[in-house]
Amino acid sequence: MIWLALQRNTDSSTMVTIEKVIDETPTVRTLVFSDDFLANVLPGQFAMVWIPGTNELPMSVMVSQEKGKAAFTVRKHGLSSTALYSVKAGEQIGVRGPYGNSFTIKQGRLLLVGGGTGLVPLMRLVTFLKKTNDVTVIMGAKTKQEVFFDGLANKLLEQNKHKVLVVTEDGTHGQSGLVTDVMQRLLKESTFDAVYTCGPEKMMHKVVQLAFEKGIYAEASIERMMKCGMGLCGSCCFGDVLACKDGTVFDGQYLLTNKEFGYTHRSKSGILENY
Ligand SMILES: Cc1cc2nc3c(=O)[nH]c(=O)nc-3n(C[C@H](O)[C@H](O)[C@H](O)COP(=O)(O)OP(=O)(O)OC[C@H]3O[C@@H](n4cnc5c(N)ncnc54)[C@H](O)[C@@H]3O)c2cc1C
Ligand code: FES
Repeated sequence: MIWLALQRNTDSSTMVTIEKVIDETPTVRTLVFSDDFLANVLPGQFAMVWIPGTNELPMSVMVSQEKGKAAFTVRKHGLSSTALYSVKAGEQIGVRGPYGNSFTIKQGRLLLVGGGTGLVPLMRLVTFLKKTNDVTVIMGAKTKQEVFFDGLANKLLEQNKHKVLVVTEDGTHGQSGLVTDVMQRLLKESTFDAVYTCGPEKMMHKVVQLAFEKGIYAEASIERMMKCGMGLCGSCCFGDVLACKDGTVFDGQYLLTNKEFGYTHRSKSGILENY
């Protein structure tokens, strides 16, 4: 790794060529590329991704399942994410990083709760867990068409005692309702040694609160507006910490003291907005 570090300045963009594009849902794609740095990042770390001619966006680093390859899983939303989603095999993007801290690996009975592309760092986390852990994953989507990574989670966990519970808001696939409804039901009958969550902030707030009420250690990966990604510009301020440098992963006890968590975030121009 030291040798590799001498070969590349991780704070400036390196161009990589997209080798494979995988359609996960009608609006979500995984882009696979070769990169020894990003193929080896810790779970929860992210990269800044430059879409030439458009913008630079933070993206969690996804599992590629192939040695030396890294991936991003992107949902098309606004201008920049749609441009990234539309990149084809053979085209180039710029990457810099990895940035941010990572989830703490705990042992025992572990609960992972994710929604949408929040599942990306959780899938990477799964690959770092020992086979002796008993792992439950609750994954949420609005409707059946938007469910992805259920097959992948089962595959990555095939040597663990595990459960993958799919929850859709409209009940078209798996259980009906919200991931937090299912978590609440699970906590009535069993307990866990740690809870990890990533997804919409209101969802994470509820997950952290439920874990806290049961005295279970919890961690959440939070998103804020990011420009530099490395602690210089301040656009990702989250209360009195920086999401990109001090996080993105914070423990539940801290999060419940941060008045922004679950309630407010800053827009592109720095204005405080409610969730
Ligand atoms: C650490 C981190 C990891 C992320 N990982 C993923 C991922 O794996 N897959 C994925 O699809 N998305 C991920 N995102 C979200 C992604 O960076 C974009 O925010 C999202 O794709 C929408 O971008 P847009 O410009 O198309 O949308 P716009 O319509 O321009 O903006 C919609 C909203 O997206 C958010 N946003 C836009 N630009 C940024 C930015 N530079 N930094 C942070 N938030 C922004 C803001 O909340 C904004 O209101 C991650 C964000 C962060 C902070
Ligand atoms: S994105 Fe610039 S300080 Fe975090």
